[in-house]
Amino acid sequence: MQPIEIDHVAIAVEDIEKAVSYYQDSLGAKVVHREKIESDGVEEVLLSVAESYIQLLTPTNETSPVAKFLAKKGEGLHHIGWRVPDCSAALEELKEKGVDVIDQKPRPGSRGTTVAFVHPKSSFGTMIELVQEMPTGH
Ligand code: CO
Repeated sequence: MQPIEIDHVAIAVEDIEKAVSYYQDSLGAKVVHREKIESDGVEEVLLSVAESYIQLLTPTNETSPVAKFLAKKGEGLHHIGWRVPDCSAALEELKEKGVDVIDQKPRPGSRGTTVAFVHPKSSFGTMIELVQEMPTGH
C-alpha cells in the first residue's frame, strides 16, 4: 500500500456545534465542508488543518454506529483516514495480507471520496479508513 498522507483524523462528539466552535475559535481550524450521511447515520463537519483535516462526527439517530461508539467509549478518536491513490487496490492488498476489513468493497464517502474501513482489531485499536480523493483533488 502507498499512503499519500493522513487525510483526516475523525473525532466522535456529542454536540457538534460546540465542538466546531472549539476547533474553529480556539484551535484555528477552518470549516470547509458539512454533510449529513443518512445511510451511515452521521453528520460530519470537516475542518482543514494545513493539507489534512479534522473530521467531527456526531450521530443522527440512535442506531448509528457513532451513537454506539459514544455510548461505549465516550467522545474521542473514532478513526484515522489514510489517503491512498487507489482505494480498491489498497483494500485488495490488505485483504491478501489477511487484514480484517469492515468493507469488502470500496464505497462512496463524503465529499465525493471513495472509502473503505479496516477493522480496529487489525490496527491495534484504531479503525482505519482508506480514502481516495476525487480525481480533481481538493
Ligand atoms: Co472518515
